[in-house]
Amino acid sequence: MDDGGRLTGAVVVYSDVTGLVEAVAANEELVSNVSHEFRSPLNSILGNIDLVLEDSDGLSALTVQRLGVVQRNSERLLALVSDLTLEASAALKVHPKRTDISGLVETSIGSAQAQAERSAVALVADVPSPLWAFADPLRIGQALDNLVSNAIKYSPDGGTVTISAAGTENWVKLVVRDTGMGMAPEDAAKVFSRFFRAESARDAAIPGAGLGLSITKTILERHGGAIACSSDLGGGSTFTMTLPVESAG
Ligand SMILES: Nc1ncnc2c1ncn2[C@@H]1O[C@H](COP(=O)(O)OP(=O)(O)O)[C@@H](O)[C@H]1O
Ligand SMILES: [Mg+2]
Repeated sequence: MDDGGRLTGAVVVYSDVTGLVEAVAANEELVSNVSHEFRSPLNSILGNIDLVLEDSDGLSALTVQRLGVVQRNSERLLALVSDLTLEASAALKVHPKRTDISGLVETSIGSAQAQAERSAVALVADVPSPLWAFADPLRIGQALDNLVSNAIKYSPDGGTVTISAAGTENWVKLVVRDTGMGMAPEDAAKVFSRFFRAESARDAAIPGAGLGLSITKTILERHGGAIACSSDLGGGSTFTMTLPVESAG
């Protein structure tokens, strides 16, 4: 979906932000401060758009449509700011502790629900409860949010996103699978590189900066875990995170 690209008379923000991101990412402290300062006005914009759209009876269809464009672009900006904020925390410290992964999955599904409904994507969780791992709940929550929001974003025609998990004695495997557009296997091998975007995503004009997965990989590695991707063009994608059950040291 191209947000409003076909709308006559609407102002549209385009998706090629990579140059901007590269330039800005050069100065971590600046990025961290700027991102922080961007967040609250953006949240205010989004909150007020929500309120207007909830009570849109007196508005014309065109106005509602244009507000939808404003809303989606504000959400994109907020997502970019989140990626930059995380990226800028060079230390990206993790504080792992005994954590119930099923609770994190529930939270992540809750926060992705609105995005999923808008894209006609069904969210399914198949996770035993409780499922203990040695994880930083904040960071692994962010990793999950990244994978789930990607899974929805790259399913432009709807579909199903399934989060499943299983534990062995030493490892917990957390799998996010979608039935979306997928990508060529040679692209799947590169998705964890900074700024990399698969041809399928660029062809479909789905906006993004190519930062989320590189951050996600760093988070998993700081836990002594790992992340892998397998995908086929048109055949959906599967991301598998592996986390230790116990502290290594
Ligand atoms: N679930 C998915 N299905 C298909 N392609 C994906 C999926 N997740 C990630 N990708 C590809 O990997 C690239 C990198 O992802 P990411 O780092 O999250 O950046 P962004 O989503 O901002 O482009 C994406 O641009 C896309 O090409
Ligand atoms: Mg992403």
